[in-house]
Amino acid sequence: MNEPNVPPEDEERAQTLARELHDHNIRYHVHDAPVISDAEYDRMMRELQALEDKYPALASPDSPSMRVGAPPLDSFDAFHHDPPMRSLENAVTEEEMVAFEERAKRFLLQTYDRNIETFDFTCEPKLDGLAVEVIYRNDSFHSGGTRGNGVSGEDITQNLKTVRGIPLRLRFPEEGPEPPAYLAVRGEVFMNLQGFEKLNRERLEREEPPFANPRNAAAGSLRQLDSRITATRPLEVAFYAVGRVEGFSFQSQSHLLESLPKWGLPVSPVWRKCANLREAVEFYEELLRGRADAPYEQDGVVLKVDSMELQNELGSTSRAPRWAIAYKFPPKQETTRVEDIIFQVGRTGAITPVALMKPVRVGGVEVTRATLHNEDEMRRKDVRKGDRVLIQRAGDVIPEVVVVIEEERPPDAEAVPMPEKCPICATPAERPEGEAVVRCPNPVCPAVVRESLRHFASRRAMDVDGLGEKLVNQLVDSGLVSEPADFFALSKEQLSSLERMGEKSAENLLEALDRAKKPTLARFIYSLGIRHVGEHIAEVLAERFGSVRELSRADTETLVSVHEVGPQVAERIVRFFSDARSAQMVDNLLKAGVDPQAPPEAAEGGSGEAAFSGFSFVLTGTLSGRSRSEAKAAIEALGGRVISSVSKNTSFLVAGERPGSKLKNAESLGVEILDEDAFEQMLAREKGS
Ligand code: IVH
Repeated sequence: MNEPNVPPEDEERAQTLARELHDHNIRYHVHDAPVISDAEYDRMMRELQALEDKYPALASPDSPSMRVGAPPLDSFDAFHHDPPMRSLENAVTEEEMVAFEERAKRFLLQTYDRNIETFDFTCEPKLDGLAVEVIYRNDSFHSGGTRGNGVSGEDITQNLKTVRGIPLRLRFPEEGPEPPAYLAVRGEVFMNLQGFEKLNRERLEREEPPFANPRNAAAGSLRQLDSRITATRPLEVAFYAVGRVEGFSFQSQSHLLESLPKWGLPVSPVWRKCANLREAVEFYEELLRGRADAPYEQDGVVLKVDSMELQNELGSTSRAPRWAIAYKFPPKQETTRVEDIIFQVGRTGAITPVALMKPVRVGGVEVTRATLHNEDEMRRKDVRKGDRVLIQRAGDVIPEVVVVIEEERPPDAEAVPMPEKCPICATPAERPEGEAVVRCPNPVCPAVVRESLRHFASRRAMDVDGLGEKLVNQLVDSGLVSEPADFFALSKEQLSSLERMGEKSAENLLEALDRAKKPTLARFIYSLGIRHVGEHIAEVLAERFGSVRELSRADTETLVSVHEVGPQVAERIVRFFSDARSAQMVDNLLKAGVDPQAPPEAAEGGSGEAAFSGFSFVLTGTLSGRSRSEAKAAIEALGGRVISSVSKNTSFLVAGERPGSKLKNAESLGVEILDEDAFEQMLAREKGS
């Protein structure tokens, strides 16, 4: 064969690209910790592909262009895909889309002498999560795995079973068709933004590192060795393709997307069959415009030639099908320069390094600062003043620095040391052993006070309409407010004397403060800003104790006996209420007329001592006497909680007819199991007492 000779510089370039891409692949697929943007990765991959296309001798079988992921970790069994799960070609411009269509037309003409004017395309959002395959045999969930390198991934059967969107049995639609006897479905497991933000808030409250983006959160959750952890994560799924299928055939991609939901398999709620490329591009533009408001992250639109017959004729290259392409959205990562590194003091006294950056637009929003999280993170990433950095934002989360672009480090880039004193009140800073956080230990540090007041008034806490960050700042600066109770003593005169505050707004604020005087007990507890007490723990405490008084009297032992309250949290609560200053602050609030409302269940039992309070129940199988929701209501009426998955902390498993895998789980964890009779007797006994 007369293949062109490879110039040495091209050979060398291809080797460098291959090595680096391998490296990035492993970071992305094995560690869920990419250090370059997807756009940069794609650019490198295209450059390598172009070189390999030009000089086929460069395309070794283990080139990163031949693989779509990294090898599985040791700890999971391998999961094989037959046929392989292929990757997708990418396009970022409309010209590239036109070129894709032209290539497909040319291929059909040259190979089959078939002349196609326009294709029907089915278009779906490209969801950003982890690709999986799930196998159904005789209508039952059989097994499932990650895509891995496309040929073999990890067997994550147990974890996939915990994803609520994945049916364990397929439905038989009345109007037909019956589900196929053997069905391998492929799709994306992802986390929506709301679930992602909630998970990160909880992690921050527990002082665990937050996930950088929903994709990492989804991937990290699915690749847990302990599927019980997976079960607590808000994962969703959308199926978009099939592997091996027996006993059914799909005529087109749109037929596939219409059929899967009939059997109970979710697909993306938005997709469209388009009559030509122009319509497909319009769909892309519509999704791009709506991107900021979408409940989940999308990184583009996937176009698929609708007809399966044409798909089969078009076939695939070694990497990707010729009948599909991902038309990518502009990336949500950008590079910019760090102009300064400053230190912020938060509500808990935590001193956080923050990079101030040359303003840059990321995913449609201007970004000027990015958190460096803490001292260790700042050192690990080695971020210096003057550095060029890659930053990213995902959802609500404060933008963060992903990586420093070291090749572009100016010679005078300066590492900034952590301050030894609080930058606000100059109290010597502390870093307790084993903690990543440096803190200002002064409870009356103006920054701590200000942040606590902001937290108190915020939407998730007392939710005082109109009392935003700016106004809290004004009130603190003018000396009108120094503790939460002061908000409730404000007069119309005092308020209208503030800058930019008319009489009408003053009245509105006073009304809002009045309305805020009856918070739920849970919100009130949360608003106090006790460390490690987030919204969820606040709810648990409110349910168990029923009043602030009861909570303030609880000792560590009582607190630890409450499901989900660990020793660390218990200690913080005890410490908070035994500190004279915080106890006084709470007292002053109650004196100012704040009247937290106990949750109904706890109120029934008097002081929160409802019969089932502090007990958690998991339901499995079918009860003959009650529906799921009736059983749940009965348990909750007695102060108990119904949760969805079994852990060693679960109090009881209620097992009806045909119990699922939860029964086995409960047995192996030594959780007490109640059959329907025992459960009914227990309810009757407690209701009577
Ligand atoms: S189709 C042969 N459809 O994108 C068809 N993929 O770059 C291959 N993805 O591994 C996949 N949404 O993780 C397809 N609607 C969609 C998708 C989608 C997200 C992901 C998937 C795949 C990767 C390919």
